[in-house]
Amino acid sequence: MTLKGQYGDNMNFGTKLIHNGNEIDKETGALSIPIYQTSTYHQLDVDNQGKFDYARSGNPTREALENTIAVLEGGTRGFAFASGMAATSSVLSIFSAGDHIIVGHDVYGGTYRITSSFFNRFGVEITYVDMTDPDNVKNNIKVNTKAVFLETPSNPLLKITDLKAVINLAKEHGLLVIVDNTFMSPYLQQPLSLGADIVIHSATKFLGGHSDVLSGLVAVKDADLSKRIYFVQNSFGAVLGPQDCWLLLRGIKTLKVRMDYQCASANKLANWLKTNQKISNVYYPGLKEHPGSDIHLSQAINGGAVLSFKTDTEATAKTFMKRVTLAAVAVSLGGVETIASYPYKMSHASLPQSEKDALGISSNLIRLSLGLEDPVDLIEDFTKALDL
Ligand SMILES: Cc1ncc(COP(=O)(O)O)c(C=O)c1O
Repeated sequence: MTLKGQYGDNMNFGTKLIHNGNEIDKETGALSIPIYQTSTYHQLDVDNQGKFDYARSGNPTREALENTIAVLEGGTRGFAFASGMAATSSVLSIFSAGDHIIVGHDVYGGTYRITSSFFNRFGVEITYVDMTDPDNVKNNIKVNTKAVFLETPSNPLLKITDLKAVINLAKEHGLLVIVDNTFMSPYLQQPLSLGADIVIHSATKFLGGHSDVLSGLVAVKDADLSKRIYFVQNSFGAVLGPQDCWLLLRGIKTLKVRMDYQCASANKLANWLKTNQKISNVYYPGLKEHPGSDIHLSQAINGGAVLSFKTDTEATAKTFMKRVTLAAVAVSLGGVETIASYPYKMSHASLPQSEKDALGISSNLIRLSLGLEDPVDLIEDFTKALDL
């Protein structure tokens, strides 16, 4: 066993999940990083205080997790927060009144809410655009624009943004690019390597992987940006507790094996659904007929483990949600269990009808996050649930 600093950069991702320099407790050699359940730290010498002084400022379990996400995303520093929204809100808190941010119009509902009903009250100006066309970003850049915030694939229709095109455009204008990489995880897509500045995760999803922990992670490359985010993390204080850090450290170790299986299932299910007469549309960027497929597969290794589909009628969708037994009917995604959600009445319920219409969130739309069940059993269950 070796410790940090002895690893080359040439390891494959699956190996890095297990050996990244943060997997062994440096004090004891424990193979599972201990849960340092403490709020403060005794100082042996007030003139030479230790690395840790108070748990909001730092905690060894959290540090192992933060260093892990930094390595996995190809960054230099990571940050752990109490939820994905705490991560997003803390990142957005580096901006000031009068700054303008261009945000994807179909970002996660919580991100839409915090930008449209919270940060606007502090004078941060937001413009929402359809990021699938980078010209929409270009045409909305103003003198006070400071950043672009996007998700690709987006939720729930898995629309694709050309990361390189938006990043190049942003760089020309000195803007920061913030990518919510929740749907892909660092295994499938690494925006920092394409030039993005900040990557955010709802680690509640694939990184945790077991639907048992609410958490958010951030990874950054630039040292100055890291300082700005650390300032917010330490002063705003929306940090992740050590127990939850430990759960994430454990979940992350199996990210690749889980995702390999879940993505393969999503691919199988997408191909099965599209041949089904009760299904009118399948949205999965791993299907070659998906309009963003070429771009997506140039920036991510596969289509991911989430897909959406529309049924022929609202009644079919509702029957499916009632009858399905091998999928939990729930919001969220990225767990070991398949989750079916009904965006029209669940994640996007609060949107006005006109907005739902504009985004294509109709009453016959279902989103699936594939878990670790055998896809043969899922197809059999879905066949019954769709009344085929
Ligand atoms: C893409 C995306 N970003 C951010 C969030 C917010 O994360 P959390 O629920 O962990 O606060 C979610 C939650 O569903 C999400 O799907």
